[in-house]
Amino acid sequence: MYVTYNKLVEKYGPIYTLEYGSRRVVVVSSASTIEECFTTKNDPILTNRSFLLVGKYLGYNYTAIDHAPYGDHWRNMRRLAASEMLSISRMNSLVSIRNDEVKQMITKLSHESMQNFAKVELKTPFRDLAFNIMTRMTTGKRAFDDDVDDGGIKEFVNGMMELTTYYDSANPGDFISFWGWFDVQDPRILKKLKDEMDNVIGQDRILEEGDLPKLPYLRMVILEALRMFPATPMIDPHIASEDCSIAGYHIPRGSIILANAWALHRDPTLWKDPDTFVPERFEGISDGAIKNFIGFGMGRSSCRGMHLGHRIMGLTLGSIVQCLDWQMISGKDIDMTGANGVTMPIVVPLEVMYKARPIVKKILS
Ligand code: HEM
Repeated sequence: MYVTYNKLVEKYGPIYTLEYGSRRVVVVSSASTIEECFTTKNDPILTNRSFLLVGKYLGYNYTAIDHAPYGDHWRNMRRLAASEMLSISRMNSLVSIRNDEVKQMITKLSHESMQNFAKVELKTPFRDLAFNIMTRMTTGKRAFDDDVDDGGIKEFVNGMMELTTYYDSANPGDFISFWGWFDVQDPRILKKLKDEMDNVIGQDRILEEGDLPKLPYLRMVILEALRMFPATPMIDPHIASEDCSIAGYHIPRGSIILANAWALHRDPTLWKDPDTFVPERFEGISDGAIKNFIGFGMGRSSCRGMHLGHRIMGLTLGSIVQCLDWQMISGKDIDMTGANGVTMPIVVPLEVMYKARPIVKKILS
């Protein structure tokens, strides 16, 4: 989908309008048009989510946080999410679940690869990890645990998977955008990452979430992966609750606004060599000072789970680099062509070779 929007940017420029049946869709793709939407007086006007049918049927009649209209209910939901799940103290209190789930994923992968390289299609372990973390943090139960009476978790997971099919493949595993990291085909980047892990954490114990602030290169790799392969290349639709103006154009009430993260993140006037994976471009820039980057959205409705997302991504990528050696399947380049979807699933499943490093024996013993 984002590929088509990007072709239109080349033809029509940083702001253009499409007609989807009776709905007007305004696509903004440059730093100035996106900032005008989400950092000026337009922000409260555009904080509304669009009233698409997906919000009615899958978002509990527009009451789910990511489908609710801007107003008291939305504010309450955000407050509830912030205090009950995403506050620093709540995130810290549940850290052992995330450490444990990543360790379990590594252990499971290692069984196949103690002696020799094994092949893995990465989507499945990452999907299971995302679900297990999500359901354990919210219900205390694992999503994928065959022998346990799960009190309905399987039903929930099946429902979510079905939802992802309808919702154009918005699978939690895709959302966390793990596969983008494997653009780390450049051996120099993988080596630098591994060196950082070995120097800071070593080979006697597995990485834990609390180590992440000591791993600046890992953070830069994640940011660069989100720049080149944003989890949502087109930010979820917003809707203008009043008439407003963007880049001098009159935008009537009811228009759907789509911000094009992919185009912004690959704009050659803003990013040097935008199509090259260079984590160092984020060196010395704190999270709050990163410009021209909307991997977590922008403005009032930006992602509530950004800090949790960073923690999970850091822990997962750091652990798989620390504990496993990785190789591309010989003669097979990674095909990053995107499939249809709100998130960024890829057409060709990502298969790679991996082998347990010696640290895994210590963890298992
Ligand atoms: C890599 C991880 C993640 C990325 C890249 C990401 C990205 C995004 C993006 C782009 C949006 C749309 C923002 C907008 O419309 O302006 C969003 C919204 C949201 N995200 Fe995330 N997200 C991540 C993880 C999480 C996690 C772990 C949670 C919570 C457990 C979460 C909760 C939310 C919520 C509640 C919203 C809707 C906010 C609202 O409408 O008020 N996200 N996210």
